[in-house]
Amino acid sequence: MKKKILILIALLICGFVAFGLINLVVEVPTSDSYASLTTDTPAMKQAKAIIGAKCQMCHSKDPGRPFYAKLPGASAAIGKHVEEGTQIADLQQLLENKGADEVLLAKLEQSIKLDTMPIIPFIALHWNSKPTNSEKQAILTWIHEVRAQKYSTGLASAEFANHPVQPLPDAWPGGVDEQKVKLGNLLYHDVRLSKDDTISCASCHDLKKGGTDQAQFSTGVRDQLGGINAPTSLNAMFNVLQFWDGRAKDLADQAGGPPLNPIEMDTTWEQVIGKLSTDTELTALYEKVFSTNQWNDKNITDAIAEFERTLITPNSALDKHLKGDKDALTEAEQMGFALFTEHSCATCHAGKAMGGQSFEKPIDPKAYYAFRGIKPGEAEFGRVNATKNEADRYKLKVPLLRNIAVTGPYLHDGNITDLKEIVPIMNDHFVPKLNRKPLSKEDIDKIVAMLMKNSGLLNGEQI
Ligand code: HEC
Ligand code: HEC
Ligand code: HEC
Repeated sequence: MKKKILILIALLICGFVAFGLINLVVEVPTSDSYASLTTDTPAMKQAKAIIGAKCQMCHSKDPGRPFYAKLPGASAAIGKHVEEGTQIADLQQLLENKGADEVLLAKLEQSIKLDTMPIIPFIALHWNSKPTNSEKQAILTWIHEVRAQKYSTGLASAEFANHPVQPLPDAWPGGVDEQKVKLGNLLYHDVRLSKDDTISCASCHDLKKGGTDQAQFSTGVRDQLGGINAPTSLNAMFNVLQFWDGRAKDLADQAGGPPLNPIEMDTTWEQVIGKLSTDTELTALYEKVFSTNQWNDKNITDAIAEFERTLITPNSALDKHLKGDKDALTEAEQMGFALFTEHSCATCHAGKAMGGQSFEKPIDPKAYYAFRGIKPGEAEFGRVNATKNEADRYKLKVPLLRNIAVTGPYLHDGNITDLKEIVPIMNDHFVPKLNRKPLSKEDIDKIVAMLMKNSGLLNGEQI
């Protein structure tokens, strides 16, 4: 009996060791694991192999971590790195060949440029874990390749061709249906979309006020006040998803929300359609566009979305600077843009609209909201409201910095009017600790001066 137990224990130990050895042998995925992805370009393959070998273990939920990471003690320390690392940059989507969004590319680029990765305690234990110079170059080459193929508007000068912030195009890339835009424009400004004919989309997204209402919270029907700041409708077509928590997948989906929202417009489609159907002129235009005189909510929101695709604001002074006009920004403003890049602001406020591409949370939500004097509620919970995924708690859609001079008051709670207050808040609470460098008062002034030059033209008129 005793003998049997001993044999069993011995077998268990052997199994344990063997399992451990296997884990050590297959410690990190090699480039071969990804070689099957036939769509990869050579640069992408190389970058993925490096990321798979040197970064993935702390930056994805299923990272093929070494065996010792699962031992008590080690796992607590590594688990913390994995949790933090994955929260701040989930590299799994790269490795699964789902492609990279502009923000992930910008974050990766910044970590390579600032040479922050891997974190120092890890390098101390794993002397060869730091990417070599040629490996860093390979990752940067791949980032630039993806950016050029997927995200460039082709308008930047050579100096900014690889910058995470790109100039806005002059028009919606796919073109728009002019008649539908005309109908959408009328509906966007039509108060019959509200119960008591007092509120239109434009009440809260006034095109003369940068696509906002320039109020902390919006006023809906019966003077009811909302609980979150209205983002701009200008350039909203470039958002990956709509709303602070991303609960609407596109503009049409979004436009279906406010009419039924009890605080905003508080009506029903039946009521709206009842009113619009009696308008013969509008119905004639509707019929021209949709080949039917039967109104429905799908077509109404479709037309509004088409109109919103014309709310694009190209050619701000900053855009001209990006396009190579050396006189568009003053020297201080140019330095402001360089500081914006250097201080990692462009990692989240990336893309042509300078935001709207990802959902981000403060580095330490508790500290952020304590500092802001806000007790976190539904508005602050953000993305988790839509996804029910706990990892998304406190993540908010990154606001667009286009036309920021006129879209205040700022932040989701609309509680700050001065951009000079926002910049240090961003540096202290959103820029990752390892990237963070102090910003002097002069630096802040320069960044704000640049942001103030970020208003473009709407239908040819300066905002
Ligand atoms: C031992 C775990 C570990 C390894 C290995 C590691 N990271 Fe990280 N990474 C972290 C942690 C922890 C953070 C959060 C640091 C902070 O709080 O600023 C982080 C943050 C980041 C960020 C976001 C911050 C930024 O710089 O914008 C990026 C991007 C990143 N890592 C990329 C990489 C790349 C690329 C590699 C491989 C060369 C890598 N990491 C390897 C743990 C790791
Ligand atoms: C009573 C004020 C009010 C009215 C009316 C209103 N909105 Fe909004 N809008 C808001 C607020 C507040 C938000 C943010 C809500 C949130 O994220 O939870 C918002 C969000 C949006 C967004 C998302 C922008 C982004 O960056 O995520 C778009 C686009 C938009 N509204 C367009 C419209 C359209 C089109 C209409 C008319 C059908 C409309 N809104 C009616 C207040 C209003
Ligand atoms: C990790 C992502 C991230 C980084 C890095 C970041 N931001 Fe932000 N930014 C956000 C988010 C998210 C918000 C919204 C926060 C809120 O509403 O509480 C925001 C809000 C803002 C706003 C207010 C916009 C508005 O319309 O309300 C400005 C201005 C701004 N950021 C500028 C900056 C500057 C300047 C930097 C660099 C010092 C920076 N951000 C770095 C994610 C980021």
